Amino acid sequence: SDVEPKQHDLVTHRGFKLIHGTHDPNDVDQIYNLEIRDTDVFVVTYPKSGTIWMQQILLLFEVKGDVTAVSELNNQCNADFIPWIEVKGSRQAFITAPSPRLRVTHLQYQFMPAALSQRKGKVIYVARNPKDVLVSYFHFHKLANMLETPKDFDDFFEKFMRGEVFGSSWFEHIKTWYSHKDDMNMLFITYEEMIQDLQSAVERISLFLGKELTGEQLANVVRHSTFNNMKKIPQANYEQVSGDLLNHRQGTFMRKGTIGDWKNHFTVAQNERFDKVFHREMEDFALTFIWDI
Ligand code: A3P
Repeated sequence: SDVEPKQHDLVTHRGFKLIHGTHDPNDVDQIYNLEIRDTDVFVVTYPKSGTIWMQQILLLFEVKGDVTAVSELNNQCNADFIPWIEVKGSRQAFITAPSPRLRVTHLQYQFMPAALSQRKGKVIYVARNPKDVLVSYFHFHKLANMLETPKDFDDFFEKFMRGEVFGSSWFEHIKTWYSHKDDMNMLFITYEEMIQDLQSAVERISLFLGKELTGEQLANVVRHSTFNNMKKIPQANYEQVSGDLLNHRQGTFMRKGTIGDWKNHFTVAQNERFDKVFHREMEDFALTFIWDI
């Protein structure tokens, strides 16, 4: 019998998992051919790695740290000003948008504009230790209506390990991007570095983007992008995102913002299995993560 696809159904397109109600595979295929301007910036993340945090920082750069000026740039939510390029309708808007075009994406490298590999535009890759990503993604699946509510943590753990989630495998995602990082203008930064020293992280990002901000303006960017302060800013914390997308009764987007919450969720056996997979998948990549503090 014909079963109507659901909003949250996953669609496998060229080996990559998209969300039926959110993404159009044909549209996603067109991203590759987009013309890129030198002023374009793409924030690339696997889901739950600090996307909205980087959105907030880039937005604050645009207003030189003056948070009261943010409302002039966007109305409801930071994502209105810095949207996901892969979401339906977003590609068309990108083509005609004025500079600077700031975008975020969860896509793997092979879908992205080929021009990025000719050193056009800039890419900021934010990586987070994948155990915390898994835990954050588990909780987000309960909150987000476009993602299927997991049966329980163990069930979600298996799905994540098999890459049966939007964004597919965490390992594949980081490997596709990291192996091309020297072909493009890329800043590679981790969530944990940002947690441990936000001031230095903001300075690195500022330098990479060629922003000329005074010390005071930079301090304001830092101040308004801490976890506690973002939690108080409705545009930044996604509180105003429609109830059709987020079930706000199930929790908050700004959930915990810490390193090492996986220890409160993983069993010893799950942790051992994860370590083995991590070691096997990442052995050719000189990448280290901070797993706890
Ligand atoms: P937790 O669920 O572990 O709390 P994304 O934006 O990619 O979906 O990532 C969301 C994760 O980033 C959530 O993690 C959220 O709390 C965290 N986050 C967002 N802003 C943050 C900030 N300013 N400081 C620390 N963590 C932040």
